[in-house]
Amino acid sequence: MGTKLCSTASLGLVLLSIMLALLLPFSSCHEEKAIDKLESVERLVLTTVAGPESLAFDRRGEGPYTGVSGGRILKWQGKGCGWTGFAVNAGNRKEWCDTSDVSLESMCGRPLGLQFHNATGVLYVADAYFGLLAVGPKGGAARRLAASADGGRFNFTNGVDVDQGTGEVYFTDSSTRYQRPDYILSVITGDSTGRLMKYDPRTRKVTVLRRGLPFPNGVALSGDGNFLLFAETGSCRVVKHWLRGPRTGAMEVFAELPGYPDNIRRTARGEYWIALNREKINLNGGGITEDEKATEGEAAAAAAEHPVAVRLSREGKVLEVLLDGGESTSVSEVAEENGAIWIGSVEMPYVEVYKL
Ligand SMILES: *[C@@H]1O[C@H](CO)[C@@H](O)[C@H](O)[C@H]1NC(C)=O
Ligand SMILES: *[C@@H]1O[C@H](CO)[C@@H](O)[C@H](O)[C@H]1NC(C)=O
Repeated sequence: MGTKLCSTASLGLVLLSIMLALLLPFSSCHEEKAIDKLESVERLVLTTVAGPESLAFDRRGEGPYTGVSGGRILKWQGKGCGWTGFAVNAGNRKEWCDTSDVSLESMCGRPLGLQFHNATGVLYVADAYFGLLAVGPKGGAARRLAASADGGRFNFTNGVDVDQGTGEVYFTDSSTRYQRPDYILSVITGDSTGRLMKYDPRTRKVTVLRRGLPFPNGVALSGDGNFLLFAETGSCRVVKHWLRGPRTGAMEVFAELPGYPDNIRRTARGEYWIALNREKINLNGGGITEDEKATEGEAAAAAAEHPVAVRLSREGKVLEVLLDGGESTSVSEVAEENGAIWIGSVEMPYVEVYKL
């Protein structure tokens, strides 16, 4: 079975090259791949705030930048300087917002998805409460670009990606009904009020591309910009939405996942890292099949490890699975940049880095 390549006492993330037949029902489309990575670990620790959900790198390759509890966007300046403030999500932000207290979120905002447009240096921010925001390359107070579409207010702005060629911004509102602290309700009630949207910086208009989605979350454009992928957390899938060509506007399933997907990041090779908040659970009130019971039993016997991310090929095949090493960890984003894997989590007070 799997070869354990590296185990650490930190987040406990272990990357295994595994034949998943034992663990996961989707293993039939899984290529085995021995990977020699996750060498050294560095932990970029936050102090008063927590929850680096998304990670972005600017056009000079600097960063990561991340949005944290309290509403700030921070920049990692290297070991010497650590995290410094880069931007805030509102001009009238209060200092008392700088805490990890979730109950203040609706007042202070909560930056989730982040992405740069490299040509202009603008950083786009999906703030769960304040909507789609943008801030220039020097940082400062972000300006609000949109907080509603077609008359419907955003209640849970979440993922964002930018077409580096056209500058168009794609983003999600996970739910019209539920806000971030109630995300679990959105998932268990099968709430399908999420939307996938596009913001055009030239016309400053928002177009709704898809509505009625079960918790749309992270977004990533394909390398050629012909389609985008979005994580559909409520259905444990990654969905492909065509933006160009004969199938423009059509949607298809790109991958079924062993957990609830959060952010998606394309790698320089054109593959995708999908972070998983948690392993898939049966939410339909005891309707577990005999097959599922058997799989769960074997999985528990094999190891109390949970998948926290998958790497997908350009075609949606699972190439690699990242396991949590037995520690329950909720991962929000996995980004491969500058020869390292960077892991963000909406719950943890740090970003974890593994050298490739
Ligand atoms: C922007 O450019 C930097 C430096 O080349 C690169 O690391 C980063 O991935 C680019 N961002 C995007 C979204 O393409
Ligand atoms: C937004 O979410 C809040 C909290 O879950 C809810 O009370 C409110 O009704 C939602 N807004 C809409 C328009 O559904």
